[in-house]
Amino acid sequence: MPTFSLDGREIEFQPGDTVIAAAHRSGIDIPHYCWHPGLSVAANCRMCLVEVAPPPGRGAMMLDVLRYDEAKGQYVPAKKPKLQPACQLPVVEGLEIKSQTSEHVTEARAAVQEMLLLNHPVDCPICDQAGECRLQDYWLEHSGKQKRMKDEIIHMPKAVDFGPTIVYDAERCIVCTRCVRFCDEVVGDPVLDKRERGNLGEIVLAPGRQLDHAYTLMTEHVCPVGALTAKDFRFKARVWFLRSVPSVCQGCATGCNAYTDYDPRNQTVYRHRPRENQAVNKCWMCDAGVLDYRRVHSRRIFHASVRTESASLPAAMQAAAQEIARFGNASAVLLSAEHSSEDNLAVFELGKALGINKFFVSGRPAGEGDDILRSADKNSNRAGAMLVAGGSNVGDSEALRAAIEAGDVTQLVALGSQVESEGLAAALKRLASLVALSTHEGPIAAAAKVLLPASSWAEATGTYVNISGLAQVSEKAITPKGDSLPGWKLAVALAEATGKSLPFKKGKDVKAAVSSSVSTTAGAEA
Ligand code: SF4
Ligand code: SF4
Ligand code: FES
Repeated sequence: MPTFSLDGREIEFQPGDTVIAAAHRSGIDIPHYCWHPGLSVAANCRMCLVEVAPPPGRGAMMLDVLRYDEAKGQYVPAKKPKLQPACQLPVVEGLEIKSQTSEHVTEARAAVQEMLLLNHPVDCPICDQAGECRLQDYWLEHSGKQKRMKDEIIHMPKAVDFGPTIVYDAERCIVCTRCVRFCDEVVGDPVLDKRERGNLGEIVLAPGRQLDHAYTLMTEHVCPVGALTAKDFRFKARVWFLRSVPSVCQGCATGCNAYTDYDPRNQTVYRHRPRENQAVNKCWMCDAGVLDYRRVHSRRIFHASVRTESASLPAAMQAAAQEIARFGNASAVLLSAEHSSEDNLAVFELGKALGINKFFVSGRPAGEGDDILRSADKNSNRAGAMLVAGGSNVGDSEALRAAIEAGDVTQLVALGSQVESEGLAAALKRLASLVALSTHEGPIAAAAKVLLPASSWAEATGTYVNISGLAQVSEKAITPKGDSLPGWKLAVALAEATGKSLPFKKGKDVKAAVSSSVSTTAGAEA
């Protein structure tokens, strides 16, 4: 692979790379605001300026400048090299770039930083971006000085309602146009634009429009400062209290790579944000996916129950074993496209141990899809559930509804919370017996004779196979809520309560059994 030199280090590049893109791929940060790996180049912030060595035998292009001479107490003529924006500069073999090692670059970055903060309000104590704001980070790294301007700052519109999800603060905006380019280039909805120039520049909505497409929260995510804030996260948490784990979005079958941000002090999940994976979601997530973390804490089943009476988990486990002991030929297992492969494999093995040979899969009802990211299948692991059960002999929701109505299935062990059709939801109520392992309230829990509380995806590490057949691991963020246990643990305990045993007892054994049946994750940024 061809290389170029960055601060004396040999960096590989691909044809068509800019200096910043090649450096980014090598894990080297050239400070930037307006550049984003998923967007076109705007080159308007000038934070990424670098010094380029002239070709052999040629002098550097020099600029005439005035420099303040402390001894003389006045400005004197001087020269400095013309710096180039690394985000716009194509790499060629042998190019020599100075980023950290050039005094001219150091001076330019400090000047850019000072200029960007000239009219910036002192909002950090109440700004949601504080703690992950590039203005803060780069001020510390590249400036660290008080601003010299003593005048009142230019005041601009604050807390502008951009739509159902986003609030805009023009005083905090550095007019990098990332949000404008994101709507235009990724979503194909040019709802944002820039008006005016210089100090008066601001981002505005198209006339008569709101920021209301299906990816509005990505405009907040690409904003490098606190100008765009998400109504969902505003004033809810300070980011320095949050911890992150790499996860997989549970909103649909695309399986976008995400980070789950949670507060370890109160074991609460506060947000989802995208994790770059060029093979799955590039740099993005949809609004439904970003907000899907809320299901971890809403409509949850925290405790077991037997015929709607609340019960301890051991008592409910015994009651479930007694129900199962009465199961006959018309018994079946319902797997869940909402649950991890680990949960599904354990419940499938439980069914086999009980001598059941009818298996079905259901999940959340289908919804809207698009050709950007969103799948119409709103389940994260239909492919994984099918895979662990061997695929072809597994019936769908419609097949289970028909089997219940025909009397071929009267007793059911079900994993999951939702079913795909109202017909199946109604049919579940006609079962003679239903033992459910559910995370949320829903038609399965409502029809259950014995209900066992299953942990959500955020409370257990699990494998999810997306619509393209890619197996990805989502890591545990918080401890299981209430009395809940991961679905696979409930299945192992249920097997023991019925006098059977499964081929695994520990998480690592289930994981190993799942790994042997699926391919591994590709392209994810850890
Ligand atoms: S709102 Fe944020 S992303 Fe948009 S131009 Fe301003 S600083 Fe950039
Ligand atoms: S497209 Fe699907 S997987 Fe991706 S963020 Fe949206 S809901 Fe989640
Ligand atoms: S990153 Fe803004 S000019 Fe290059």
